Amino acid sequence: MRNDVDCILFDRDEIAACVAAIGRAIADDLDALAGHPTEIVLVPILTGSMVFVADLIRHLPQKLRIGVMSVSSYPGRSIESKGALIRGSLPDDLAGKHVLIVDDILDTGQTLLLVRQIVEEHRPAEVRTCVLLRKARPGAAAVHVDYVGFDIPDAFVVGYGLDYNDYYRNLPDLVTLRPEAMR
Ligand code: PRP
Repeated sequence: MRNDVDCILFDRDEIAACVAAIGRAIADDLDALAGHPTEIVLVPILTGSMVFVADLIRHLPQKLRIGVMSVSSYPGRSIESKGALIRGSLPDDLAGKHVLIVDDILDTGQTLLLVRQIVEEHRPAEVRTCVLLRKARPGAAAVHVDYVGFDIPDAFVVGYGLDYNDYYRNLPDLVTLRPEAMR
């Protein structure tokens, strides 16, 4: 697997520092809600966000719940979006809650827009969004995100939960792949 790596964009230490900084920013904002009667629900978008969310929640000392959603836009070997499709069940009981949608990467923005739309149908008190990576794409720029880890160039990135054909999620660094690995 290591032989398939072309370039390390962010290594595990840079990622850890970034996740800690995002966590601090979110925790500070959540503190502002302290004493508010509504609950906080994190909505991670699976599968790509699982590693990010696992690290992020350990920087959030507040009482919160998690309601996952499963969405797929890049099935199999796709490196261009095939359109965001809901693949799993939706979290329920979001009415009146403060919701934070968490994803690994914003590419075309379709996934985040779709999930936000679905969450808003549940009439939450507030919806915020968080992505670890935001690609430099015209579409991505049009989607508002409250918390962004890294802005990256328009490259296909894997590792730290992100996949190609469902592989490489277990790489601890965020990397690009050699072209031969993507055939
Ligand atoms: C990826 C990624 C985001 C989404 C972003 O998911 O995890 O959820 O695409 O793309 P977009 O901004 O163009 O919508 P993918 O469909 O690969 O599923 P996965 O999370 O299971 O890997």
